[in-house]
Amino acid sequence: MPRLVEIRNLQKTFQHMGKELTVLRGIDLDLDEGEVVAIVGPSGAGKSTFLHILGTLDLPSKGYVKIGGTDITKLGSGALADLRNRSVGFVFQFHHLLPEFTALENVMMPGMIAGKNRRDLERDATKLLEEVGLGKRATHRPGELSGGEQQRVALARALVLSPKLLLADEPTGNLDSATSAAIHDLFFQINKTHGTTVVIVTHNNDLARSMPRVVTLKDGRLDADERRAPVAMPSGASMAGKEPAQEPAKDATKEAGKEASDESVPEASA
Ligand SMILES: Nc1ncnc2c1ncn2[C@@H]1O[C@H](COP(=O)(O)OP(=O)(O)O)[C@@H](O)[C@H]1O
Ligand SMILES: [Mg+2]
Repeated sequence: MPRLVEIRNLQKTFQHMGKELTVLRGIDLDLDEGEVVAIVGPSGAGKSTFLHILGTLDLPSKGYVKIGGTDITKLGSGALADLRNRSVGFVFQFHHLLPEFTALENVMMPGMIAGKNRRDLERDATKLLEEVGLGKRATHRPGELSGGEQQRVALARALVLSPKLLLADEPTGNLDSATSAAIHDLFFQINKTHGTTVVIVTHNNDLARSMPRVVTLKDGRLDADERRAPVAMPSGASMAGKEPAQEPAKDATKEAGKEASDESVPEASA
């Protein structure tokens, strides 16, 4: 598969209360088109910072990120926004849907802002809502949808401009395990049907185990990058609480499991 993302010596330092806080300490990573990758690691490891930079919402302090061969550190803000709109879709832990608009309108919104034809958008958004299982909820407002349904709308919205790269930061962190499992299945389905490269930051061990590639960040460094044969998952809710038929390779999910007890932050060792 052709390479979609090339990251070299990615470093990120924040200025905080007059102090320098180094959060990413030199990360090298490549992503191929069509890959599905989990990012795991203890709280404060730099996962969200990494994902934001990968999604061009923030810039490296040092090093570079290339998306489709374009170095994001060389772009002006207009070109960067353009690249982001064309190439990247985001799903966050909290869906950030607009409460006054219907599910359909929320999905259409990025396209409306990008000045796309309304009728085309309506067709695309309708199809996406059907794909995420919400064909019958198009006219509902977010307040009339369950948490899982809201996250499905957010997923459809992230896809409306056909991004090559779909980034999700703890997309099911706020959902129960059965609902999470169903949403996770959707990410795989999207990857299959659209060929979208998917990167998911997750604490969910079941999900991380089911991913063909797991990247572990620790103290702002890449601690492990493991590929394995994907573990077949029973679809939907049945995944919750069940061990996969085949034991995962090892280690990759360990850090995520430590999340609750591991409060180490890069600052402490800076
Ligand atoms: N804008 C910011 N300014 C200062 N510090 C930040 C900023 N964003 C994140 N950090 C710090 O960077 C570290 C890593 O944060 P984050 O990337 O959110 O970690 P994770 O997602 O792995 O929990 C934390 O110590 C956090 O406080
Ligand atoms: Mg985070």
